[in-house]
Amino acid sequence: MTKRVVLAYSGGLDTSVAIGWIGQATGAEVIAVAVDVGQGGENLETIRERALACGAAEAYVADAREEFASQYCMPALAANALYMDRYPLVSALSRPVIVKHLVRAARQFEADTVAHGCTGKGNDQVRFEVSITSLAPDLKCLAPVRDLALTRAAAIDYAEAHGLPIETTKSSPFSVDQNVWGRAVETGFLEDIWNAPTKDVYTYSDDPSFPPVEDEVVIGFKAGVPVTLDGVAVTPLQAIQEMNRRAGAQGIGRIDMVEDRLVGIKSREVYEAPGAMALIEAHRDLEGVTVERELARFKRLVGTRWSELVYDGLWFSPLKQALDGFIAETQRYVEGEIRLVLHGGRAVVTGRRSDASLYDFNLATYDEGDSFDQSQARGFIELFGMQSKLAAARQARLSQD
Ligand code: ARG
Repeated sequence: MTKRVVLAYSGGLDTSVAIGWIGQATGAEVIAVAVDVGQGGENLETIRERALACGAAEAYVADAREEFASQYCMPALAANALYMDRYPLVSALSRPVIVKHLVRAARQFEADTVAHGCTGKGNDQVRFEVSITSLAPDLKCLAPVRDLALTRAAAIDYAEAHGLPIETTKSSPFSVDQNVWGRAVETGFLEDIWNAPTKDVYTYSDDPSFPPVEDEVVIGFKAGVPVTLDGVAVTPLQAIQEMNRRAGAQGIGRIDMVEDRLVGIKSREVYEAPGAMALIEAHRDLEGVTVERELARFKRLVGTRWSELVYDGLWFSPLKQALDGFIAETQRYVEGEIRLVLHGGRAVVTGRRSDASLYDFNLATYDEGDSFDQSQARGFIELFGMQSKLAAARQARLSQD
């Protein structure tokens, strides 16, 4: 039986050429798999036909948008996941769901290898391959750009020599990866970290310097998941899409940073994630109202660690899965509504209400008639500060000698 390789296919030059390139190098048939994670752009049927025209034995398209939104983006929202406190894990979140579909295709078409188009310098190669081996330890991995020396120049020559139906002239100045949770832009003139991003870098968001009138939205949550927007029921996918549109119009969620890659390189990244950043702002605020203090403090540590694990390609790892269990438990009472004002690059919470609120007006009020007994504070502070007082007294005593 001919060997088969499943290829993560984007429809772009590199993976189109990789179809024939892999065939030549390995003698295998290539099954091209395109996964829709809400990246927009070309119609997936067009992409499927291109894969076949480039020599794929089979081409398979998976609509993973709802799955990606509910099983990958929502856990990231529950964790308030921001790598290095800033990056909402856009690409890192999509790799495991893409791999799920690649592995499924590998089983269906009896392939023994899964291939992807990543280079040898980034995080994505790690995420693909660690996810593949975690789900299917028996499958082999192949990265034609990295392992079979498929350079851009070689790809252009190959495409032209074989008359592949793909543009070889129109080369984007950037490397872009996008999905419904956001968009990542790197390389080109952004590699000089003093260069400011130009307008053409952004497509998910408008310039925040010239915003339209402010936009007020009420987001309803249940168990940490957005379930209504202005009172209208939404799926996770719809919540993200709608917030991308509304927060994007206000230029919210633009991030320009130098980031620590897993492979040891610092790299300049420009992101836009209007919906994700607005939702995280709202979700975090609702947690402030509904999550008990000690749980909330510990959860912030867990969220940071979760983000690092996901960034590092360990989505399917035991620790990440165990932390998922913890985070899910913290979301039990994260329900209610958040009023968010979107304007000029900022998403600002201006109100919150919840049946599961731990905020007690009668305890908090500075007006007459509160139920908080202030006379007890004195004794509390006396005991709470006891060990600091003893240590300070010792320091004073011993440093005099
Ligand atoms: N640096 C980001 C990450 O590792 C974005 C990667 C985007 N990938 C790309 N091929 N442009 O998550």
